[in-house]
Amino acid sequence: MKISVIGSGYVGLVTAACFAELGNKVTCIDISKQKIQSLKQSKIPFYEPGLENLVEKNLKCKNLSFTSKYADAIEDKIYFICVGTPQRKSGSVNLDYLFAAIDSLLKEFQQGIDQDSKRHIFIKSTIPPGTIRKIEKKVLLRKLNFSVSISSNPEFLKEGSAVNDFMKPDRVVIGSDSNTAKKICKELYKPIIWKSNRFIETTPESSEIIKYASNAFLATKISFINEIAKLTDFYGGDINEIRSGMGSDVRINPNFLYAGIGFGGSCFPKDLTGLIHSFKKAKINPELIKATVNVNNEQKEYFLRKIYKLYSPKELSKKTITIWGIAFKSNTDDIRESVGIKIVKALSPKVAKINIYDAIAIKNAKNELSNLSNISFNKTLASSVKNSHFLVITTDSKEFWSFDHDLLTTLQDNRIFDGRNMLDIDAMSALEIEYFGIGRG
Ligand code: UGA
Repeated sequence: MKISVIGSGYVGLVTAACFAELGNKVTCIDISKQKIQSLKQSKIPFYEPGLENLVEKNLKCKNLSFTSKYADAIEDKIYFICVGTPQRKSGSVNLDYLFAAIDSLLKEFQQGIDQDSKRHIFIKSTIPPGTIRKIEKKVLLRKLNFSVSISSNPEFLKEGSAVNDFMKPDRVVIGSDSNTAKKICKELYKPIIWKSNRFIETTPESSEIIKYASNAFLATKISFINEIAKLTDFYGGDINEIRSGMGSDVRINPNFLYAGIGFGGSCFPKDLTGLIHSFKKAKINPELIKATVNVNNEQKEYFLRKIYKLYSPKELSKKTITIWGIAFKSNTDDIRESVGIKIVKALSPKVAKINIYDAIAIKNAKNELSNLSNISFNKTLASSVKNSHFLVITTDSKEFWSFDHDLLTTLQDNRIFDGRNMLDIDAMSALEIEYFGIGRG
C-alpha cells in the first residue's frame, strides 16, 4: 500500500521504517527541513537499536522517502499522524501540532486534483478521549466533496526496543466508525499479527482511553512495587523475591514490577498528567492515578534519603561520587524526565564532585547539565569509579552485570546505592561493600 506518515519522532520514524520494511511505499513528512535533510542521508536524530539500518535499507530500495512538503504525499490516501502531543503547564495536552498537521492535510486535499476517492487518517499520537470527535468536526467544517475517515490507532512501543515492539506487537488497536478504515488497518498490520490475531476493533473513544489506561496501569504497577519495597526495607526480605512470588501468578505477571527510583521518560509522566486532566474535565477525582504519581515523585526522595541518612551535609560536601546511568532507562539516549538527571541535580550542590558514566546518553546529558560545574563525564565504567567515595546506580544497564566487580573495591567508602537493584547482594558482601538497594532489606 501507499501510505504517508506525518511526524518523524520516535513513533513516526519507527512506524514509517517498519511499514516500509513490510513492503509498503511510505512517505514520511516532517515540517523540519533540517531533520528531513539528515533523514534522507539515513541520519537518525536519536539512538534506537536497529532503526538506522532499517531506514537506510528502505531508503535504498525506495520503499521509504522523506519530505517536508505535504503536497508530495497527497496521492497516498492513507495517513498516519505521529506528531508530538506535549504537556502544557496547566497539565492539559497540547494538541496544536496535531491540529496543524490535520489542517495541512485538509488544505492539500482541497487543492488536490483527485477529488473522488476517500481518504483515511489514523492518529497514532497519544490523544485524550474526545479528540477524534473534535477532528471529525474540523473535517466537516471544511465541506469537502469526498469523505475522510478519522481513526485512532495508538502505538504501544517502548524506547530502546521500539522496532521489535512494532514488529511483534501484543495487540493492534483500531478505534473507528469506518469499516473501510478498519479493513485497511487490518491489511496493513496483517504480516505482523496474522499469528496472534490480536487485532482489536473499538470505538474511537475506547481506543483513545486504551492507550492512556495502558500507560497508567503499567505506571501503577511500578508505583505499587515501589511502595511494597519500603515495607521490605523496614521488615527485611527482598523485593526481587516478592516480585517473583507475586509475578508467578499469571493474573499479576512479573513485568513492570521492578522496584527502583521511579519511572521517567517522555510518556508515563506526561500521560498520567494528561489523564488526570481528562478526569478533571469530567469532574471525576482520579484518586488511584494521583496516588501513582505521588508515590513516583516521592520515590526519588526516598532513595536520596538513604544517602542523607549516612552522611551529614558536611561529610557529603567532601565526597566525590560516581553515578552510573543518566538516561531515563537503559538502551536509550533519551533523558526526558530522567530520574537519573534529577538525582544529579539534587546531589551536585551537596557533594564535591560527580563522575558520570552512561554508555549512550552522555551527549544529551552534557547539554542538560552544562550549568553544573562539579560534574565530569567518563568514558568507561572503570575510570568512573576511580578516586570515588561511593557509587550511585540510576539506570538498569546490563553492562553493570558484566563489569569486573572487583574494581568496585576501589570505592573509598565501600558503599553502593543501587537505585535499580542491579547488583548481587551476596557478591557485594563478599567484596565487603555495603550495599543499599530498593526494598532489599
Ligand atoms: C512506555 C510504555 O511502556 C509503552 O508501551 C508506550 O508505548 C510508551 O510509554 C509510550 O506511551 O509511547 P517507554 O516510556 O518508552 O514506554 O519506556 P518503559 O520501558 O515503559 O519505561 C518507563 C519508565 O518506567 C522508565 O523510567 C523505566 O525505567 C521505568 N520502569 C519500567 C520501572 O521503574 N520498573 C519497571 O518494572 C519497568
